[in-house]
Amino acid sequence: MQGENWITGALEELRAAHLERRLTGYSGTGGRIQADGRTLLNFSSNDYLDLARHPRVIEAAAKALQEYGAGATASRLVTGTLPLHDELERRLAALKGYPAALVFGSGYLTNAGVISAVAGTGDLVLADRLAHASLLDAAVLSRARLLRFRHNNPAHLDDLLSRHPARQRLVVTESVFSMDGDLAPLPDIASVVAKHDAMLLVDEAHATGIFGPGGAGLVSEHQLSGFVNLSMGTTSKALGGYGGFVACSEAMRQWLINRARSFIYSTAPAPSAIGAALGALDVIAEQPGLGGELLQRAARFRKHLQDAGLDTLNSASQIVPLRVGENAKALSLSQRLREAGILAVAIRPPTVPAGTARIRFSISLAHAPADLEEAADRIIAAARTEGLA
Ligand SMILES: Cc1ncc(COP(=O)(O)O)c(C=O)c1O
Repeated sequence: MQGENWITGALEELRAAHLERRLTGYSGTGGRIQADGRTLLNFSSNDYLDLARHPRVIEAAAKALQEYGAGATASRLVTGTLPLHDELERRLAALKGYPAALVFGSGYLTNAGVISAVAGTGDLVLADRLAHASLLDAAVLSRARLLRFRHNNPAHLDDLLSRHPARQRLVVTESVFSMDGDLAPLPDIASVVAKHDAMLLVDEAHATGIFGPGGAGLVSEHQLSGFVNLSMGTTSKALGGYGGFVACSEAMRQWLINRARSFIYSTAPAPSAIGAALGALDVIAEQPGLGGELLQRAARFRKHLQDAGLDTLNSASQIVPLRVGENAKALSLSQRLREAGILAVAIRPPTVPAGTARIRFSISLAHAPADLEEAADRIIAAARTEGLA
């Protein structure tokens, strides 16, 4: 096609650096999935609580679909606000311990809309060096100046805030880091942010449903809702569906309704997605121990790898990375695992810093404890073949 000659060369460069990504089709979701005629244990799904196929979640999604149809048919500001959206926002605000919440199409859209609504030209966004791409993209979109503080380092954040005044300053971190599985020192970060009278956004995409009382997340566990202006989460991961949200003050919600462009200029989330999220909230309310059970299983799995001398970074969650280093080696280990019946993708730059390619294992309640034991043994054997332990 005219004008596209540059693509072949650009793709070849990616290939040469072992950085080309390709789509692979899978037969479905769940702890065991089929690919290339084989059954694989799935360690690459974010459906941590195994709710994507939970009968209650499916039933709630189907009921919403039947009642309201396939789409919300307009932006929330036009005719897209249905009783379901209001109900989900009330339930999420209550779960998170905030006066209000606002639902977006996805977690990515939440970060894009929220950050660009509260920071703009002349403002400052300070993000943890390992913050998710959606947070960094949002900072760029906002046109504010972006500074990165050292990973999980409140002292460095303090120093940056001392040296960089601005009209408005927004600090951004994850509570559970998506590729490292480690936890942010939220109380220390919150006290630095409060000292400098800045705003704080905590992305709880990987904590919601798992950590904290009733799955409320780490902001709630540390009782920091009075210090975290924007408690962001998704319904796409532990809640098994698709969507994003932020819990905040009433005034902030009203500001976002007026200024968050991904909220204003996009069709409201589909009724089925909202129904699924409501169904998932019912399940975690009725079984508040699910997150704790998941974390215990993950801890056993992680210890198994560590006892064999493997480097799982500072993981303290259901996300367990196995640090490999080189891109080519991470790809080769991922392939070896696949041959051993384990699906765990290689994570390479730019998703993680150069030289820190890894295999990321997502532990899910879809994995029976015996499956996890067996998988850990196979992973250790494959890693040894690659010279990692
Ligand atoms: C930390 C973090 N924030 C936000 C997102 C985006 O969420 P969603 O998948 O709902 O767009 C993700 C998912 O990749 C994530 O890991």
